[in-house]
Amino acid sequence: TLSVDQARTGAKIDDSMYGVFYEDINRAADGGLYAELVQNRSFEYSTADNASYKSLTSWDTSGSAQVLNDDGRLNARNRNYLSLAGGSSVTNSGYNTGIAVTQGKRYDFSVWARSGGTGNGAAGNAPLTLTLRDASGDLAPARRVTARGGWAKYKASFTAGRTSATGRLTVASGAPVALDEISLFPRDTYKGRANGLRADLAQKVADLKPGFLRFPGGCLVNTGSHEAYDEQSGWQRKRSYQWKDTIGPVEQRATNANFWGYNQSYGLGYYEYFQFAEDTGAMPLPVVPALVTGCGQNKATDDPALLKRHIQDTLDLIEFANGPATSEWGKKRAAMGHPKPFGLTHLEVGNEENLPEEFFARFKEFRSAIEAKYPDITVISNSGPDDSGSTFDKAWQLNRDADVAMVDEHYYNSPQWFLENNDRYDSYDRKGPKVFLGEYASQGNKFSNALSEAAFMTGLERNADVVKLASYAPLLANEDYVQWKPNMIWYDNDQSWGSANYETQKLFMRNVGDEVVPSTASGTPATSGPITGAVGLSTWATSAAYDDVLVTGENGGTLLTDDFSGGDGQWSKAADKGTWAVQDGAYVQSDEAAENTLVTAGDKGWQNYDLNVKATKKAG
Ligand code: AHR
Repeated sequence: TLSVDQARTGAKIDDSMYGVFYEDINRAADGGLYAELVQNRSFEYSTADNASYKSLTSWDTSGSAQVLNDDGRLNARNRNYLSLAGGSSVTNSGYNTGIAVTQGKRYDFSVWARSGGTGNGAAGNAPLTLTLRDASGDLAPARRVTARGGWAKYKASFTAGRTSATGRLTVASGAPVALDEISLFPRDTYKGRANGLRADLAQKVADLKPGFLRFPGGCLVNTGSHEAYDEQSGWQRKRSYQWKDTIGPVEQRATNANFWGYNQSYGLGYYEYFQFAEDTGAMPLPVVPALVTGCGQNKATDDPALLKRHIQDTLDLIEFANGPATSEWGKKRAAMGHPKPFGLTHLEVGNEENLPEEFFARFKEFRSAIEAKYPDITVISNSGPDDSGSTFDKAWQLNRDADVAMVDEHYYNSPQWFLENNDRYDSYDRKGPKVFLGEYASQGNKFSNALSEAAFMTGLERNADVVKLASYAPLLANEDYVQWKPNMIWYDNDQSWGSANYETQKLFMRNVGDEVVPSTASGTPATSGPITGAVGLSTWATSAAYDDVLVTGENGGTLLTDDFSGGDGQWSKAADKGTWAVQDGAYVQSDEAAENTLVTAGDKGWQNYDLNVKATKKAG
């Protein structure tokens, strides 16, 4: 029985309350939302990204072809280029099963080329033949362009005669030639934008009607080196996400090895994120690194000049988003095609730092600089990675002490936890900082997960005076490049599908109320007998730390856990009962029988593994 209390009024709910957390994880950008069909288009993949990546990853060559990194390069931020001898060719296999094309649709090819394969090139011409084929033959008539001396951009366009998900793009040359930034884009990007987004994926996000778009991550933002890309020595690999690297002409955006073990082209960068937010009616919410490296790296940068530079970069970001087209950074936005400001109102500094004091010292410097110049911007802080431990309590205390406007909380937990914590925010201090629940998910993409999240979200909504923003995480996953599960939207190279969790989010985002109507429910919930089934666990493993991970229940032998929340990121033996801490914030009760599960960690660095543990749970 539901009783509505019409005498009382509840919290007002902001239209922007439910939004999306976008992170470039699981190849969410290249091989995902970014519509580019060529993988490793500028030959910048490297073992620095991942032991299995090389400069010719996803390329096959015929004849004589080599990747060069010398003074003949396209520019200082795009180091590698391909030198092809006459009569040779290079073929790209795209992502997943290949390059996906649809019958009757247009595909725009472009390449930077220079006749003469090496050094400073040659005066003659290099005729290039471009083909788009799959194993059954041509997908479109071949195209020809002629490269001359000196780097220049050449374009051509294909119309697909057949639909295929296994296409290959080949560039063959009749004379020595240097090639870089080989690109193929569907003409039909989301809203038809140049350098745009994959239409089906962007549409799935737009269909949610998100209140805000948080970007570009997660751990991606604040991990790695905070130094700038170095044009003299080449690149500074594994840099934190520094927004200035990601704007301007795409062939001048220095690629980066990201935290998730692959190379980011940055073709999808800050301008494109702002544009996407505007196109979907979402409030843009960027996150910048605070120079305290989180996500298990736990390092604080002690370099005042570097801190000053990052603070200035953040002020420049606000000018890029909001400044007039005549301002230094507003001019760059206008040059990219958007003279009108993007209307930035919220900005987050830092993500999941596990060193609260070090983080706060730096956060406050960012905040005072922002407030001095842009007093209307809401500067969001965070509560670290652990939603229950002492770090979390300390971080919250520091947030309160510093009178922070809004605090970003993250948690990934069991469906049971979500059901049991509907009242989490009922007791939050009404006078303290507001909450941005920036990342949460119950561990799985099953209907029961979606249902537990829906139940939990009613608690968020009831507390809409405290919880101002909330986003499920992560948003996107290419099914062949998965670093993290569960995710909201899945895809391969030609199809995409929403999870059950996506439907929950859509339901809430598209039906945001104006205010809470206080109500109480009574009655006896239907009960069932003992629940038996598979418990999906997700764990992280790397062979650098150990080879095999043995997870057993109370009836088994040793229980190994990654006590990531303890801060060392190392696996350790735990007692043979109690709680399994398999991932930060992810706890599984092992108070009942469970069978052994053995995972053999591969050699690709930290990877996400699924464990299936059979468990029997007592009724009630
Ligand atoms: O959402 C995946 C990861 O979870 C994010 O990168 C990080 O912020 C959190 O730990």
